[in-house]
Amino acid sequence: MKKLQEALNWRYAVKKFDTAKKIVASDFEQFKEAVKLTPSSYGLQPFKVLVIEDADLRAKLQAACWGQTQIVDASHLLIFASLKDIGEKEVAAYLAHKAELSGIDASALKGYQDFMVMKIGEKSVQERATWNAKQAYIAVGNLLTSAA
Ligand SMILES: Cc1cc2nc3c(=O)[nH]c(=O)nc-3n(C[C@H](O)[C@H](O)[C@H](O)COP(=O)(O)O)c2cc1C
Repeated sequence: MKKLQEALNWRYAVKKFDTAKKIVASDFEQFKEAVKLTPSSYGLQPFKVLVIEDADLRAKLQAACWGQTQIVDASHLLIFASLKDIGEKEVAAYLAHKAELSGIDASALKGYQDFMVMKIGEKSVQERATWNAKQAYIAVGNLLTSAA
């Protein structure tokens, strides 16, 4: 716990990166794991995390990010993209994956599926987009803590 506190005290938003310094691959794997293990409502994780390696694409993104040099100079660039909407398709895909991983029949999750679809359907498209984005932020937080 003391180490975590120390790490959080140390963490800061880097404004100028040293381009010679790269995150060790095994550390980066752990950061990705921290994102994967992030809690989310129903476990849906309604976002994608893109690791942008292409230098040209990073330059284009820099222009869209007020020209901030961190976009091109940081060791790694991750984009957290939340889904603009979510519904039956995403719920079904999530539960199919869950059933596969836990070795259970997808039909056993039907009640859970129907409940999720019903609750999600009660929200407007805008509410769903906001709900998705909020969950992406939880993952960002987890990643930042892990990186610290
Ligand atoms: C959602 C979010 C967006 C941010 N966007 C930027 C940004 O575009 N450029 C930047 O230099 N820092 C950005 N920051 C970093 C914050 O400015 C920084 O965390 C805050 O000023 C506190 O400073 P510290 O993190 O060094 O303690 C962002 C932080 C968050 C959480």
